Amino acid sequence: MTDLDTLLLGPADLAKAAKMLQSGQLVAFPTETVYGLGADARNGTAVAAIYAAKGRPSFNPLIVHVASMEQAEALAHFDHDAHALAQAFWPGPLSLVLPLKDGHGLSSLVTAGLDTVAIRMPAQPLARDLLALADCPVAAPSANPSGQISPTTAAHVLAGLSGRIDAVLDDGPCDVGVESTIVATSPLRLLRPGGLPVEALNAALGSPLAEDTNPDTPSAPGQLVSHYAPNARVALNQTDGPFMLGFGAVNGQLNLSPSGDLHEAAANLFAMLRQMDELASDTDTIHVAPIPMTGLGLAINDRLTRAAAPRLG
Ligand code: TXA
Ligand code: MG
Repeated sequence: MTDLDTLLLGPADLAKAAKMLQSGQLVAFPTETVYGLGADARNGTAVAAIYAAKGRPSFNPLIVHVASMEQAEALAHFDHDAHALAQAFWPGPLSLVLPLKDGHGLSSLVTAGLDTVAIRMPAQPLARDLLALADCPVAAPSANPSGQISPTTAAHVLAGLSGRIDAVLDDGPCDVGVESTIVATSPLRLLRPGGLPVEALNAALGSPLAEDTNPDTPSAPGQLVSHYAPNARVALNQTDGPFMLGFGAVNGQLNLSPSGDLHEAAANLFAMLRQMDELASDTDTIHVAPIPMTGLGLAINDRLTRAAAPRLG
């Protein structure tokens, strides 16, 4: 691994960040969900450097970020449902897995050789400006070492990837706090619960979305069972214990949302898992309070289940 000097950039350095992307460098940037590790998705060398920096298995494809519908439609075929969902929820925390179009120009590493591509148009204003200015499709997985907790601040990015990436663009903490919801078409199905509540998708579609999120046979190949893992062990649905991450009336060392607000809990989730990990002694298990399975609770429980899963190594 190369030993780089990772630049910390701010909103005033937007043009510099865009130039760095254009010249094949790795730039982490904020989105409303989590910080992404960006590279020009057409540049195979740059995309390979994402996999190397994260230690990510190369069978796990990346999400391509775009600034406009025009850019998205140059990459993939949008059927009726895909158009409807893009119109309803872009820009926003939704990724669509769609059939690749001929002449898409993406590095085959981005799609891990699949004939589909995951596309997302983020809403975070600085991300939108960066993508527009860079004027290229930007591949960006979450900006964390593979298998670890996703970053919701620039400091989290540096804690995991400092020295392995060229720059991080800091624009404060992410509003949503969990990764995008991933939906595939033909047939239409949910691959990963995320920052766009499934209830909102169902309401827009007029019928319940089928689910394809079985972690044992992942159709989003990155949905490995153990993921988002802190160092300490994690136990879910606990109502008391010596080392608690609370929610609502169930209190603890920290509380994801004392008022029981799932948006607040999602925004706090990854930062508080990191804080609990720092507080934990070698023998502590992080006991997590029950989180309801509605709205953003689906995504929160999904991430917590993976954080609690037996570790691979
Ligand atoms: O909110 C997000 O989605 C963040 C921000 C940075 O945009 N990105 C993110 O990327 O979460 P990552 O790499 O951590 O997760 C991408 C997921 C993986 O589970 C991957 O397997 C899946 O998307 N994916 C990508 N392309 C796919 C495809 N063609 N078919 C099925 N799943 C795909
Ligand atoms: Mg990730």
